[in-house]
Amino acid sequence: MNSDWKQHEIVIVGAGLAGLFLALKLSPIPVTIVTSAPLGKGASSSWAQGGIAAAIETGDTAFAHAMDTINAGAGIVNAHIAHILTSQAAARVADLLSYGTPFDRNLEGDLLLSREAAHSARRVVRVKGDRAGGAIMKALVSAVRAKPNIQIIEGYTAKKLATKNKAIKGVHCWSSKGQHLFLPARKVVLAAGGIGALYKITTNPKQANGEALAMAARAGVFLADTEFVQFHPTAINANTDPAPLATEALRGEGATLINKSGERFMAKLHEDAELAPRDIVARAVFRENIEGRGAFLDCREAIGADFKTHFPSVYKKCRDAGIDPLNEPIPVAPAAHFHMGGIHTDAFGRTTLNGLWACGEVASTGAHGANRLASNSLLEAVIFAARVAEDLARNSSFTHMPKRRKKDLYQELENVKTAIRAPQRKDIKEMRELMDRYVGIERSEQGLTLALQRLTELAYKHQDHLTMSNMLTTARIITISAAMRKESRGGHYRTDFLKPDAKWAHRSFISLEQAERAAAQLLNNQKA
Ligand code: SIN
Repeated sequence: MNSDWKQHEIVIVGAGLAGLFLALKLSPIPVTIVTSAPLGKGASSSWAQGGIAAAIETGDTAFAHAMDTINAGAGIVNAHIAHILTSQAAARVADLLSYGTPFDRNLEGDLLLSREAAHSARRVVRVKGDRAGGAIMKALVSAVRAKPNIQIIEGYTAKKLATKNKAIKGVHCWSSKGQHLFLPARKVVLAAGGIGALYKITTNPKQANGEALAMAARAGVFLADTEFVQFHPTAINANTDPAPLATEALRGEGATLINKSGERFMAKLHEDAELAPRDIVARAVFRENIEGRGAFLDCREAIGADFKTHFPSVYKKCRDAGIDPLNEPIPVAPAAHFHMGGIHTDAFGRTTLNGLWACGEVASTGAHGANRLASNSLLEAVIFAARVAEDLARNSSFTHMPKRRKKDLYQELENVKTAIRAPQRKDIKEMRELMDRYVGIERSEQGLTLALQRLTELAYKHQDHLTMSNMLTTARIITISAAMRKESRGGHYRTDFLKPDAKWAHRSFISLEQAERAAAQLLNNQKA
């Protein structure tokens, strides 16, 4: 890192779609982005295959898109937020075009739109079939690099927020070699992505390990809906970590789900068959696999010889795994894919701490409820990043903060006694297995308590290890929230409470203190 970095009043943690879009929208306000991986790498956004949902086809409306979003969310979507999300979608797609995203077009030059599960219209803009995430990120990375007001600090991971008198003061970051960097800031935006890597089987990069949620929770910030994790039904089942995705757009184009006997098992489970809501398809795929019947995505007829050109990313992933999707069905399994929960924010990304905003997957705006609609995640990232920018710009001074004094830096260092050591592989493996087995697609009181007990022992063992402690804090909060919600709804499926319960038809909000109290109670009940 260049040692003469400038001190800015705004620091963005994370350089996925939300972080980069926010920095661009803030221009020309000076801003610092801190990111653990080189720009454009290590962000889930770069891997997104589906695209961005926007009601831009003649006859489609933002209202219809909002209604689909609300229906998919299984009764607990914040309708106001859903309408904001869908009504500003077309404008944000136009922004992405202006930053150079090459969305697919037809011969007349109109944007090509595809259909995905639980959407009532064709409304997903894509790039070369399944390359939207990578192409959007490539365009944004070049746009960001061309802006002199955006300072990028690569190779440092934010692990702790500094606060004073209930307001943000800055962010503590570390390099992978253990070098500490304190970034003083009056305004911090967490845009650090999701939690998929807390699970053994995930489509997310290893950076999506939930640390930002723990950072916020430790600073006293409220989290929301943390029990709701979305499992994508069709990750390619080839024993790779992370598991490559076979995009839902394949099913949108007619690919079917079959078991070893060639039976189309979704047809008997839901009227929309393969295009049923994602949680229903994920559970069905899970059941076929664990009951030994196997689950496969059959693209031979629907996609056929066009596979290589229409879905180049999935084609490559299949070939890398030794699968020929033109001639054989693709073995699939569900994988942790997206967190509907996260840091509780309002319609402008404000959290419950002064000076702290959040946007992108790390935030929980209430747009997704219990189950996110396909291709609404990149959309949410750009919509709320733009709204955070609007909020920040209202009262930003446009100036650099005063140059930091060496004394301040040393004081901060003294306050950070936490060791940053190499993560403990064996214990991370155990945590990810526990999350998959007990806090995954099917959950029960017994399993959640077992997981909580062991995660708590691991948290105790690693209390002085900041990375481990952050990951385990987030894993425990998800587990505790899942234990508290005694019903099944969307992505949260309890084998001991099979149905939704009207008493629970609302979002959940939790602080670290409340989570710890609930954990102690659960573990005590189990002992009694
Ligand atoms: C997919 O391409 O199936 C994933 C899209 C999404 O998660 O919205």
